[in-house]
Amino acid sequence: MEIWTALASKMAFGNILFLGLLVVWININGAASRKARVSDSFDASSIGSGRTSSASLTDFGGVGDGVTSNTQAFQDAIDTLSQYAPYGGSLLFVPPGKWLTGPFNLTSHFTLYLHKDATILASQNVNEWATIDPLPSYGRGRDANGERYISLIFGTNLTDVVITGNNGTVDGQGVTWWDKFKNGELKYTRPYLIEMMFSQQVQISNITLVNSPNWNVHPVYCSNVVIQGITILAPVKSPNTDGINPDSCTNTRIEDCYIVSGDDCIAVKSGWDQYGIKFGMPTKKLVIRRLTCISPFSAVIALGSEMSGGIEDVKAEDITGISSESAVRIKTAVGRGNYVKDVYVRRMTMKTMKMVFWMAGNYGSHPDDDYDRYAFPVIKNINIRDVVAENVTMAARLEGIRGHPFSDICLSNVTIGLSIKPRRILWNCTEIYGVSSNVTPKPCMLLKDEGPGNSCKFPEAA
Ligand SMILES: *[C@@H]1O[C@H](CO)[C@@H](O)[C@H](O)[C@H]1NC(C)=O
Ligand SMILES: *[C@@H]1O[C@H](CO)[C@@H](O)[C@H](O)[C@H]1NC(C)=O
Ligand SMILES: *[C@@H]1O[C@H](CO)[C@@H](O)[C@H](O)[C@H]1NC(C)=O
Ligand SMILES: *[C@@H]1O[C@H](CO)[C@@H](O)[C@H](O)[C@H]1NC(C)=O
Ligand SMILES: *[C@@H]1O[C@H](CO)[C@@H](O)[C@H](O)[C@H]1NC(C)=O
Ligand SMILES: *[C@@H]1O[C@H](CO)[C@@H](O)[C@H](O)[C@H]1NC(C)=O
Ligand SMILES: *[C@@H]1O[C@H](CO)[C@@H](O)[C@H](O)[C@H]1NC(C)=O
Repeated sequence: MEIWTALASKMAFGNILFLGLLVVWININGAASRKARVSDSFDASSIGSGRTSSASLTDFGGVGDGVTSNTQAFQDAIDTLSQYAPYGGSLLFVPPGKWLTGPFNLTSHFTLYLHKDATILASQNVNEWATIDPLPSYGRGRDANGERYISLIFGTNLTDVVITGNNGTVDGQGVTWWDKFKNGELKYTRPYLIEMMFSQQVQISNITLVNSPNWNVHPVYCSNVVIQGITILAPVKSPNTDGINPDSCTNTRIEDCYIVSGDDCIAVKSGWDQYGIKFGMPTKKLVIRRLTCISPFSAVIALGSEMSGGIEDVKAEDITGISSESAVRIKTAVGRGNYVKDVYVRRMTMKTMKMVFWMAGNYGSHPDDDYDRYAFPVIKNINIRDVVAENVTMAARLEGIRGHPFSDICLSNVTIGLSIKPRRILWNCTEIYGVSSNVTPKPCMLLKDEGPGNSCKFPEAA
């Protein structure tokens, strides 16, 4: 980490540093730390450590005037720096300025570092955007059949990748995409701002993402992912600007993030209907903590709607939601299959919500008509405690699937303050069962009141 900090300061001079001596030293130490990495406990501190070479975007002809295209500069810089992967890896410094670019691909053992006054500006020229295959677990693009535009910052099959900075910005300039989407003028699915596929040891930290054309951060088929200290801002009516969507990933930690968006702040996913079932890759071991979310038309934390590889072992704590549609939302449908299970949430503070809890088994939305009518998702062991919500219109809609109820739902120590004009029915529960303790207003009968002092489980860190 110290070396890394030293490099970051040297980079300001814009030199390519190749520290031969350091490489040897890092290699010796690297062997030990690589061994440590193999252990199943997830040591985030090893991600991005020991970078031995670095360069500035300007070394590759970058021009930060907001007008000149830097697509080639980014790709040349990363191609060149990728040579240092076997020697501890490299760091690309993006200096102050506005760096217009089309999409570019990252490499392994690589850090992209944005100065606080650097903005990466996404090109609005659709011709700059290559298309790639749909995700195998989705079978098609989310907006349209077939291919999808590649994400602005993209990586696949990588190890040890960091996107960070002292709060530099990535601006997706999404407005042209949103307009084209709304007018049905796009042939393919809109790009995400950052997508990492089939990668491990990924860190995205201390940057600000604004105006993404579509989802903001999409780790998919990844493991050991840390997303820390990022700010995501998009107009609250912009289409599908989800904040962070861990999708078929294992071991993901999302912490200290502030998100204002036009869709779910966090949407946990794992593939869509028959494609997701076939691909069979769950999202598991997910931790979300110290999140602040503003999303008037969507959820603070959503599980689904695409959950066909399964979602399990999710822990969320210390969550603040302001002006959001719902706090915890499970979206699923017949055809999704698999499960959402072992979800633990505690310490949520909410202000101005339509509904605190919303679980729906009739979300619909299928990739095509070939989904399995008998693929019933199992929703069970959902535990939520220590919730305070104010200015709420309706406490909960909990609607399972007929004949396939959502089970083992537990709510405890939940205090919901109502708005001036709340709904007449505060809890609408069908096809669910579970327990409650110390919940006000009094929950539906299907959540059997166990009396005070019966807290829902929240497993402490191992
Ligand atoms: C980036 O990676 C994708 C997927 O591997 C590939 O299709 C695309 O051509 C790459 N882009 C560049 C500029 O190399
Ligand atoms: C990336 O990894 C996936 C899963 O291991 C594999 O199927 C795919 O072929 C790899 N792609 C490349 C370009 O190596
Ligand atoms: C980063 O920048 C964003 C946007 O300007 C700002 O809202 C946020 O507070 C900043 N974060 C930090 C840690 O300075
Ligand atoms: C992000 O910035 C904070 C505050 O400056 C710092 O404490 C933290 O270590 C940084 N995180 C990463 C992963 O670099
Ligand atoms: C309560 O919520 C309504 C919207 O449902 C909002 O207009 C109002 O400002 C909120 N009141 C307070 C005190 O936050
Ligand atoms: C109930 O929840 C509130 C809000 O999170 C918390 O301050 C309090 O300690 C909880 N009470 C118990 C008994 O856990
Ligand atoms: C309660 O939920 C059921 C099932 O979704 C729905 O049919 C019914 O209209 C709802 N009732 C009220 C009063 O909202």
